[in-house]
Amino acid sequence: MSPVQIVIFGASGDLTAQKLVPALASLARKGEPESGFVLVGMARRAKTDAQFREELAAQQPPAGQAAFAELAPRIHYCSGDVQDLDDIRALGERLDALPGGAQAGRLFYFSLMPSLFGPVVSNLAKAGMLGQAAGGPWRRVIVEKPFGHDLESARALNHTLLASLREEQIYRIDHYLGKETVQNLFAFRFNNTIFEPVWNRRHVELVQITVAESVGVDPGRAAYYDGSGALNDMMQNHMLQILAMVAMEPPSSLDPEEIRGQKVSVLKSLRFRDDPGHHVRARYGAGTIGGRPVEGYLQEGVPPDSGTETYVAVRAEIENWRWSGVPFLLRHGKRMARRFTEVKVQFRTPPILLADPAPGVDPVRADGPVCQLRPNILTLSIQPREAMALSFSVKEPGPGMAMVPAELAFDYRDRFGESTTPAYERLLLDAILGDPTLFLRADEVEASWRFADTIHRAWREPAAPPLLDYPAGGWGPAEADLLFHGCEGTWSRG
Ligand code: BG6
Repeated sequence: MSPVQIVIFGASGDLTAQKLVPALASLARKGEPESGFVLVGMARRAKTDAQFREELAAQQPPAGQAAFAELAPRIHYCSGDVQDLDDIRALGERLDALPGGAQAGRLFYFSLMPSLFGPVVSNLAKAGMLGQAAGGPWRRVIVEKPFGHDLESARALNHTLLASLREEQIYRIDHYLGKETVQNLFAFRFNNTIFEPVWNRRHVELVQITVAESVGVDPGRAAYYDGSGALNDMMQNHMLQILAMVAMEPPSSLDPEEIRGQKVSVLKSLRFRDDPGHHVRARYGAGTIGGRPVEGYLQEGVPPDSGTETYVAVRAEIENWRWSGVPFLLRHGKRMARRFTEVKVQFRTPPILLADPAPGVDPVRADGPVCQLRPNILTLSIQPREAMALSFSVKEPGPGMAMVPAELAFDYRDRFGESTTPAYERLLLDAILGDPTLFLRADEVEASWRFADTIHRAWREPAAPPLLDYPAGGWGPAEADLLFHGCEGTWSRG
């Protein structure tokens, strides 16, 4: 079996040193894939294989040094400009001379500025490096985010890629799908029967999805981030993938197209109403995180007149039989008090109160005779805690019928120890093995952009809600609480 050849375009970037190389080192250690692999990094600056290896070694943490040392002999470097056809041809010759040669399966990883995705694919095609003859070695590409910046640009990029590649050769990456706990959303729903009967509009009052980050915008990424913002950087991709896993219909099998098809259906049914109380955008100012003062967004090296949001909260709905009328509250912000990613599925409260009202609490809601019992909430913690918990009420021992909250909980760490496979490791192996399940299909990316574009359009209206401020280290603007209108509940604090 010939070893696989992996080529990273944009090999001098942080992604290579911080995510891809550790993931490949771990795969090498585990003997994956069975056929083995070699890695070729390509970037513009001239350097030798040895220099490239040294540079990468210097960027690995102490705990990663041993694994890197094992990977190092498989790493090669090829200097060149992806926009230059001769350089791509020279890369081809280099690959032909490496173990596996022209018979090796080849994975091209585009860790490049998006404006280079088109040129690299067209040069690879012109150099005859993407053709996949029946029975011949495979050729695949992984395309990093951002995949376009709106529906139109995503469509154009799909068009460009599909001019030189078949859809099954294109692996659009969203690293959230490589996370065990995101995959568990699917696995948990469809391998247990107790939740599925109540997983719908009759029993669910609302679903809350939070991706809170305590980090700010790294000045090295300021230009990218300022052109993108919280909605494009996190919600359009990672958060909608989480939503799709939570809300999709059961597929008929594990066939990748079945699974992706069901996700696309949900994304196509997503709606957003441009009304007050349905969306909030904001930007962090100076504040304190973990006792440390931090600067505001405008001090991170962005233009002083920047209007980019670092926080977004949206009340979306899914117009289908299962979910119609159930609010899906999505919230993401940088420089929040704590880093956590979580899904909360909140079930409806019982219709009448058959318990003693808690002291000092009005048992009747202003809008109707709804009991003040807490709703059952299923919390799916994605990171940094990897856990699940179901809250419920139990009778407090003693006279009367006082109810107190209780919880059933499961933590991955208690059951499986510390080691979950890092996202990039899982995704790289899947791409090598030719399993596209955890990658996005063309129509999936487009459906996500269609939804994000409706929000962008609302923000461009003259009557659009203003860009609010929130202090770094807090929980975002208070106005986001209005998204709960008509429902019990508040934003989670992880
Ligand atoms: C990236 C975003 O896609 O995801 C970053 O561009 C963000 O802005 C990052 O910080 C978060 O990833 P994770 O895996 O740390 O939650």
